[in-house]
Amino acid sequence: MSTSSSHHQSPTRPFPPGFLWGTATASYQIEGATLADDRGPSIWDNFSHTPGAVWNGDTGDVACDHYHRMEEDLDLLGELGVGAYRFSVAWPRVQPTGKGPANQSGLDFYRRLVDGLRSRNIEPTLTLYHWDLPQPLEDEGGWCERDTAERFADYVDLVARALGSDVERWITLNEPWCSSWLGYGAGRHAPGLKDIGKAAAANHHLLLAHGLAIPILRAAVPSAKVGITLNLGDHRPGSEHELDVAAARRADGNLNRLFLEPIFHGQYPQDMLDHYDQTQPGFSVVREGDLELIAQPLDFLGVNYYFPSTVVDTSRATEARLAGYVVAESEQFPDLRVRSLETPGRDRTSMNWEIAASGLTSLLVRIRNDYTTLPIYITENGAAFDDYVDPNGRVLDHNRVAYLQEHISAVHDAIDAGVNVQGYFVWSLLDNFEWSFGYSRRFGIVWVDFPTGDRLAKESYHWYRDTIRSNSVEYATSVGSG
Ligand code: FCB
Repeated sequence: MSTSSSHHQSPTRPFPPGFLWGTATASYQIEGATLADDRGPSIWDNFSHTPGAVWNGDTGDVACDHYHRMEEDLDLLGELGVGAYRFSVAWPRVQPTGKGPANQSGLDFYRRLVDGLRSRNIEPTLTLYHWDLPQPLEDEGGWCERDTAERFADYVDLVARALGSDVERWITLNEPWCSSWLGYGAGRHAPGLKDIGKAAAANHHLLLAHGLAIPILRAAVPSAKVGITLNLGDHRPGSEHELDVAAARRADGNLNRLFLEPIFHGQYPQDMLDHYDQTQPGFSVVREGDLELIAQPLDFLGVNYYFPSTVVDTSRATEARLAGYVVAESEQFPDLRVRSLETPGRDRTSMNWEIAASGLTSLLVRIRNDYTTLPIYITENGAAFDDYVDPNGRVLDHNRVAYLQEHISAVHDAIDAGVNVQGYFVWSLLDNFEWSFGYSRRFGIVWVDFPTGDRLAKESYHWYRDTIRSNSVEYATSVGSG
C-alpha cells in the first residue's frame, strides 16, 4: 500500500473524545546504568551475560542510557503530545535483593520521571513487573516458588506508597505468559529454563502475585485504576481438519485462556489442566483461595498485540506444505504438538511476524464476547523493521507508519463493533534492547544510535504526533487488513 506519511487524507476516522494515546517502554530495555545507585542484579542481567543467550552477546548494561537521559526522553514525549506514557519500574532498583526496605535512590529516579511526566501533562502508566526479577529471588527458585509472589506484594507496597500520590494507572504484570512459558518453559527468556512443569507453576505464581498486589494497590492508592497486561493472540487453524482445529484450540489455551479464564472466570481451563496433568509441579501448586484472589475485580485490561498465527497439528505439516504454506522449523512447546504456518505473500516485520491487523479486531471482539466489558487499553502494538538513517539524516520508516495506521484503524473497527477500547500505546518510544534479539530489532518511533546514545525522531514519530493531534486515523485498506 502507499501511505502519505505526514499528511492526513480524508476520509479519516475520528476516535471518541478523550481517547488515550501513548507510547510504552520497559525498564531493562531502555535504562542501562545497571549498577547505578545500588541497583541489584536481575535475571535479565544474568541471562544476557550468559554466552549464547542473546544475539551478538548484547546486554542491557547501557541500553538507551535512559537512566541518564531521562530529561531528553521526557522532551521527546512532550513534543509528541501523548496523553500517557507507559513505563516499568525495575524491582532491583527498589529492592536490590528482592527483599527488605526500599532503596531510596532507586525510588527517587522514578519520582523524577513521574514528576517530569506530570509537569508535561502526561499521565504516568506504571507497570510494576516487566520481567526484571531480582536475581537473588531466582536463586531461591524464582516464579516456581510461591514465596516470590509474596515478595512481589511487599515490593508493590513500597512502590505504591512512594509514587501513589501521582500515579493513578497501575499495571501489575506485563505479559506473564512470556515470564512463565518463554522464561521457564522454552528457555528463550530469562531465567532460561526448559521445564514445562516449572513454566506452569510460574504461570500460577505470577497470577497469584497479580492477585496479591490488587488489594495493596487499592489500600495505598484509593483512586488507583488497576489492570494487568496480557499478550494475546488470534489463532486460526490452517484447515478445517479436526486435528488442526484442535491444535488451534491448544495454542489458544496456552497463550490466551490460561490467563483470561482465571482472571475473568476464576478458574483454569479444564482442557489445559488435563493437558498439564502429568507435569511437575505444574498446576498442583494451586491452593484453596488462590483463584478468588486472582479473579478480583479490575478497572481495565491491557492487551498487547503484534501478529496473528495460523497453526496445524504437528502430524499435518506435510498437508500444510502441500496447501502452499511454509511450516515454521521449530516447535516452541513439543507437548502442544502445534506447528506455525507462514502464509506466502503476506507482509512480515523483521521479527518475521505476519502483518494482519484484522487479528487485532477479532481478538478484541472475542475478549468482549467471552471475557469482559471492562475498558481495554492496547498497552503495546508496533513493529520492527530494518530502519536506517538515510543520507539526508532521516529515518523514513513508511512501513512502520503503514503498520501503525492499519492497526489503529483495526482498533477503530473494534470500537465500531462496540468494544470498549479507551486507549492505544505504541511499542515503542525508542529503539531498545529487544530481549534475546539484543539491539538487532528496532521497534522505536525514535531512532537510537547505540554507540553514542543520540536520538532521532523517525517519520513514524511525526506521523503519530499528527494522529494524536487530530484524534483520528485514515482508513486502512491494505493487504494487512485482509
Ligand atoms: C513484548 C514485550 C516488549 C517488547 C515487544 C516487542 O512481548 O512486552 O517488551 O519486547 O514484545
